[in-house]
Amino acid sequence: MKQFWIAPSILSADFSQLGQEVNAVIKAGADLIHFDVMDNHFVPNLTFGSKICQDLIKSGVKTPIDVHLMCQPVDHLIHDFAEAGATYITFHPEASTHVDRSIRLIKSLGCKAGLVLNPATPLSWLNHTLSELDMIVLMSVNPGFSGQAFIPSVMKKIIDVRQLIDSSGCDIRLQIDGGVSLDNIKDISVAGVDTFVMGSTIFNASDYMSIFKDIVAELS
Ligand code: DX5
Ligand code: ZN
Repeated sequence: MKQFWIAPSILSADFSQLGQEVNAVIKAGADLIHFDVMDNHFVPNLTFGSKICQDLIKSGVKTPIDVHLMCQPVDHLIHDFAEAGATYITFHPEASTHVDRSIRLIKSLGCKAGLVLNPATPLSWLNHTLSELDMIVLMSVNPGFSGQAFIPSVMKKIIDVRQLIDSSGCDIRLQIDGGVSLDNIKDISVAGVDTFVMGSTIFNASDYMSIFKDIVAELS
């Protein structure tokens, strides 16, 4: 059976208590900690840089950090986050002038690489990159904000990418990012996703242990 991973997005956490928030979701069962890095240029919002990642790891966080770069350009930030201890670094192909170079840069720095495709970004970006990737991320909202509604047309893309991955024989995670809730996670998993970013669904819950229990129940 495919192993499902839950990746809480700290974008929805209470930044005034970030360390506690991260430790609480780890205790509840987080498999990855998802970092939404925004630059107010590639996306219309601004978040944080690599020091947050460095400090969380320094404070004892061992759960892999999954950095989602919504920034342009990306190469300098790839260096920063690799140095800060990130495990996965994913970026949008539109944000890099040399996509293959950025993927190779991530891997040369010892991290796992992923490409993130927006709802309107075609799968053709995978034609010459797939075998180099450790993760493919399908955005199911337009990037920039948490708490948006899942865009249903992405379901078809999930099915297509699952087929591409399976027929390639490569070991690639398929991540969905945006609008994942208790109401749609089962259908998303059946379509082929194995890694679920969840921001508001997790951090808006009053009890993280119990929301994780509900998520796991939906997936089983
Ligand atoms: C959107 C971000 C997402 C977001 C998910 O640009 O990439 O990771 O935080 O939040 P929810 O789960 O609330 O849609
Ligand atoms: Zn994200």
